[in-house]
Amino acid sequence: MSIDWTRWHDGYADPDSLLNSRLAMVQGHLSDALTAAPPGPLSVVSLCAGQAHDVIGVLPGHPRQADVRAVLVELDPENARLAAERAAQAGLACVEVRQADAAIATGYADALPADVLMLCGIFGNVSETDIAGTIAAAPALCAPGCTVIWTRHRRPPDITPRLREWFADAGFDEHAFASPDAGGVLSVGVHRWPADAPSRSGTDGLSPRRLPTERLFAFAPQSA
Ligand SMILES: C[S@@+](CC[C@H](N)C(=O)[O-])C[C@H]1O[C@@H](n2cnc3c(N)ncnc32)[C@H](O)[C@@H]1O
Repeated sequence: MSIDWTRWHDGYADPDSLLNSRLAMVQGHLSDALTAAPPGPLSVVSLCAGQAHDVIGVLPGHPRQADVRAVLVELDPENARLAAERAAQAGLACVEVRQADAAIATGYADALPADVLMLCGIFGNVSETDIAGTIAAAPALCAPGCTVIWTRHRRPPDITPRLREWFADAGFDEHAFASPDAGGVLSVGVHRWPADAPSRSGTDGLSPRRLPTERLFAFAPQSA
């Protein structure tokens, strides 16, 4: 089954939808991560950004807006167009929507390492092997102290416990994990790359982390 990724966003039109409950949590975590970040420029990188309801819903009026440069990577041309249109309407010159394959990290190397890495709407659409591989590769995308915000449904078999272990195995600290809905169908997780971790640039004298050149993931034809 092939999914129409533009229509998929229709769920955001219903204020009572689970998708909107999830969005509110993601936005809250993004806002908190920006607020808590040390002073200075902040790179926000959103993979598979869709129409960017999360980032564009948070930045306008946020106290750290002037510090942010956001690169939103989205493959679907219509979603990328709509995200860029929404960013322009919100007056967000700091947001660049890049129509590109987010699975190829070298395509947005200029925005890395990220201070906030958004992995929302990905882990429910790719294989477990790809989830594990993306998480294992994530440290190379992260600046010290980076906040990673991710989502995953919890339909049986619920793999979120293993997913959280994969983050721990990669060296991340868990900051939050919760379901926005009473039934626990969806989940939002927040992990932090340690602030004293070696940076990718290696300028701190510790070993540099190389960006992966292989594909991080491929969307499988299944429901989101
Ligand atoms: C489930 S939606 C999530 C959108 C957004 N992150 C959100 O949570 O509202 C998944 C998005 O990933 C996009 N996508 C799929 N494969 C992609 C890839 N390889 N690179 C970039 N975007 C991709 C789809 O076009 C779709 O907009």
